[in-house]
Amino acid sequence: EKGGYEHFMLKEIHEQPKAIRDTLTGRISEDGQRVVFDEIQWPENFAQNIDRIHIVACGTSWHAGMVGAAALEKLTRIPVSCEIASEYRYRDPIITENTLMIIITQSGETADTLAALREAKARGTRVVAITNVVGSSAAREADDVVFTWAGPEISVASTKAYTTQLISLYLFAGWLAEQRGSVGATQVPEILAALRELPELAEKALGTSDEVKAFANEWASKEHAFFIGRGLDYAVSLEGSLKLKEISYMHAEAYAAGELKHGTLALIVEDVPVVALVTQDDLYDKTLSNIIEVKTRDAYVLGIAWEDDKEIAKSVDRVIRIPRTLPFLAPVLAVIPLQLLAYYASTARGNDVDNPRNLAKSVTVE
Ligand code: M6R
Repeated sequence: EKGGYEHFMLKEIHEQPKAIRDTLTGRISEDGQRVVFDEIQWPENFAQNIDRIHIVACGTSWHAGMVGAAALEKLTRIPVSCEIASEYRYRDPIITENTLMIIITQSGETADTLAALREAKARGTRVVAITNVVGSSAAREADDVVFTWAGPEISVASTKAYTTQLISLYLFAGWLAEQRGSVGATQVPEILAALRELPELAEKALGTSDEVKAFANEWASKEHAFFIGRGLDYAVSLEGSLKLKEISYMHAEAYAAGELKHGTLALIVEDVPVVALVTQDDLYDKTLSNIIEVKTRDAYVLGIAWEDDKEIAKSVDRVIRIPRTLPFLAPVLAVIPLQLLAYYASTARGNDVDNPRNLAKSVTVE
């Protein structure tokens, strides 16, 4: 059942190229120009009238939501917030009939996320659920459902669910821009062309496996690690850090790179591991200056960078390279070496990878 892999997590990491392909299937028009979402049936004018979007989720799904929020704002220019469900539901959020709520939940059964869905529905707004489980509570209770088609995810640590949530959110953002005739809709054909290449590029990104494993074996004795990045790289840093904590039990923290000097830099001393993501070309120089700040304190820096980045090797100790795509889609590929890093750090420490201590796959209690 593990398909020859030692753990479900490793199997699921390697299933990502297929999972991404399955998520895209049937959702791009034949001429490659438009997004097709036949599953969404909105009342006339609803798309035009949306004036804010609330994305609500927990854990890894919340991290996917942060990328989705950026994608939606970029393509539709509608203000988007992305919140943790256990916070959202208790803070009396401002919801009107023109609010669109998007909940993201792999299992479709997370208690706080469902409570937020019910709260929003009670206040009369439309809820779209992005979920992986057909027949789940989220799928039944939401007004519209976008299935991620990742296939069953068994390991507690979420991997292919995250990448397929990202794909679903990129598609949804493009679709909504088209529905509204937003300026961003003109970018959709280029994004769709790049999305179609992602299964192959994800396969290439999996080729970093041996390199990451060697590195994880060296790092496994460390107690602390930091993940830094800006923009979408920061969102992926949060996910890389959560994954490492969850299964390797190393203490990890993610920081927006520009925020380091507001406190955390005090923790950066000789040999402290720092994973620096540098895939956002427009923020490159800014992130590089933050990398130099941590290098000056003798941190050990692992860069996650594009295959054609000729500069980065001068400023970091080691580089893991990912294949080129649009910076907008970088999270789908950049997360892969981070998943592998968490996996191999966990096995090096002799942990129960698929069933980390204190955690459950589906959090059905509050
Ligand atoms: O099923 P859900 O997507 O609602 O689950 C949300 C979180 O519990 C989940 O993503 C959790 O953070 C993962 N174990 C992280 O790997």
